[in-house]
Amino acid sequence: MAETFDVKLAGKVYMPDPAYRERSWTGDWETAYKRYLDDPDGFWAGIAGELEWFAPWETVREWDNPYARWFTGAKLNITHNCLDRHAASERRNKVALIWRGEDDENERILTYRQLHREVMRFANALKGLGVGKGDTVCIYMPLVPEQVVAMLACARIGAVHSIVYGGFGASALNTRIRDAQAKIVITADVGFRRGKRVPLKTIVDEAVVNAPSVEKIVVLRRTKPEIELFSEMEVDFEEIMAAAAPYCEPEVMDAEDPLFILHTSGTTGTPKGIVHTSAGYMVGAYYTTKYVFDLKENDVYWCTADPGWITGHSYIVYGPLAAGATVLLTETTPDFPDPGIWWRIVEDFGVTVFYTAPTVIRMFMRFGEEWPNRSNLDTLRVLGSVGEPLNPEAFEWFYHNVGKDRCPIVDTWWQTETGMHMITTLVGEPMKPGFAGRPVPGVMADVVDREGNPVPPGIGGLLVIREPWPSMMRTVHNNDERYRKYWTTVDSLYTAGDLAVKDEDGYIMVLGRADDIIIVAGHNIGTAEVESALVSHEAVAEAAVIGIPDAVKGQAVKAFVILRQSYRPTEKLKGDLSYHVRMSLGPIAMPAAIEFVDALPKTRSGKIMRRVLKAKEMGIDPGDISTLED
Ligand code: PRX
Repeated sequence: MAETFDVKLAGKVYMPDPAYRERSWTGDWETAYKRYLDDPDGFWAGIAGELEWFAPWETVREWDNPYARWFTGAKLNITHNCLDRHAASERRNKVALIWRGEDDENERILTYRQLHREVMRFANALKGLGVGKGDTVCIYMPLVPEQVVAMLACARIGAVHSIVYGGFGASALNTRIRDAQAKIVITADVGFRRGKRVPLKTIVDEAVVNAPSVEKIVVLRRTKPEIELFSEMEVDFEEIMAAAAPYCEPEVMDAEDPLFILHTSGTTGTPKGIVHTSAGYMVGAYYTTKYVFDLKENDVYWCTADPGWITGHSYIVYGPLAAGATVLLTETTPDFPDPGIWWRIVEDFGVTVFYTAPTVIRMFMRFGEEWPNRSNLDTLRVLGSVGEPLNPEAFEWFYHNVGKDRCPIVDTWWQTETGMHMITTLVGEPMKPGFAGRPVPGVMADVVDREGNPVPPGIGGLLVIREPWPSMMRTVHNNDERYRKYWTTVDSLYTAGDLAVKDEDGYIMVLGRADDIIIVAGHNIGTAEVESALVSHEAVAEAAVIGIPDAVKGQAVKAFVILRQSYRPTEKLKGDLSYHVRMSLGPIAMPAAIEFVDALPKTRSGKIMRRVLKAKEMGIDPGDISTLED
């Protein structure tokens, strides 16, 4: 990992209208942060007290580094807070979900009461398939309301969901199903993307070969004529739903019972199954949704992620629903049928909070401001960004052309592992483009050297978290050693794997990953996963993968490939290899460039030195290469 280094920090500051701070849930950052520091447990107990519990906790936090337990002894069900709490209140007829398909006509709206009933029915349907508390269910679906219903139904009955983003390929899906030991896979015949059909069910068929844990596949059939199901193993979503009883009591969950597993790419081996538990995750997701977006009762909230990523788990489903928000979700992509579609959606539904990713903003920059200018965006109140650093140019464009110099932008830094926002600039605080901001009250973030000493402003170092927080992951599924590593790389602090720098005011700028994770359009791609997909092709002897700069996606994947002796380096073969990676892992992992080489730089112990490849690619000094063998 990198040593500390100097960073140039000067830049603009934007001051939001003071009314934002005056009306916000948090008030000013300094006071809120001090309230947390004065009494950390009391701070979190106060937030948890805004939610409903079947039995109260005995202790707010038990910390035996690196193992945390939060709200110990408490009993709850997260769906009670996301659904029953609202269905029993004046929110019962409030819109919970607004869904928009690719076709303008294709729109669905579910109130809290309706969503509650759908979830209870599907929960009973799952029970009918023999799913119970502690069983794992894989959800591999397009972005439709049923995806949310399936997640919540699992949580309702205490089943652990393991969602795989619908853009992953068969081999990526197979790895995740096997690691999670999923008993059921829930999917759809197809997803729609830019007018084309993504054959999800066909991919599932391939992925469940060599996945013996899978007993049943539930299929949502969206197209006519309906695809045929193989009755031994496959059931129809609507059919089991129609046959199920309408009421289902929530399973009483212990605070520390697992809620879900979600895989994230690692630098070595298979992806890591990040495990989140019930109470702490619920409190963290709820708190940050309400306080970071400063969500109010009449907001129309739109997070453009897919529920298949952590952003969707925390900020489409659990956080906003726990907070009783109206949530917009859509299967549309930002540029189809034209780059005005998302702005028309903002206008059509009166979206007030809009949370997206830097790669999307940079794509919109390319299309030009005439697209947002064609729609009325007056309802927008708060903008958000997540997934990778929001570069100052993208910040300015977003602020000016979408927020009309009026809306604060919350650039939220966090991870699958953290479950909730950790660093941001709260609504109403001065904004510094390029900086995510300061730690969210409740979080102790810092930038340190390898020994864990804080580095002075302007000096880069490792981004760490000093104290446990409620929604931190509890372990890595089947691999607790990998979990412990997060807390031992720098002694007893949580290392995020990111490089960062602070300024004089304590604002944190996140510079990027310190390891071999490539962030392509906000999605984490492990070099190891792409390399092993390449090597599984018969022509490839060895492969190394690095990230190269990309003006829209932030980074793109470049692969260096050594061919087996009987293969010739041709353009056709490059295309075949890209296609092979696309089919195994999905389009997001597809190399943008492939170079055939005769050798790869390696250490004497045989590890590929990606750093050297990268330096060569960028035309910079590779630094210390004394351990280089070849
Ligand atoms: O490198 C950071 C980057 O995304 C990583 C986490 O990726 P993932 O677990 O997939 O979660 C993405 C959604 C939370 C981080 O280690 N990252 C995420 N948000 C930001 C960011 N980098 C800079 N600024 C951000 N706001």
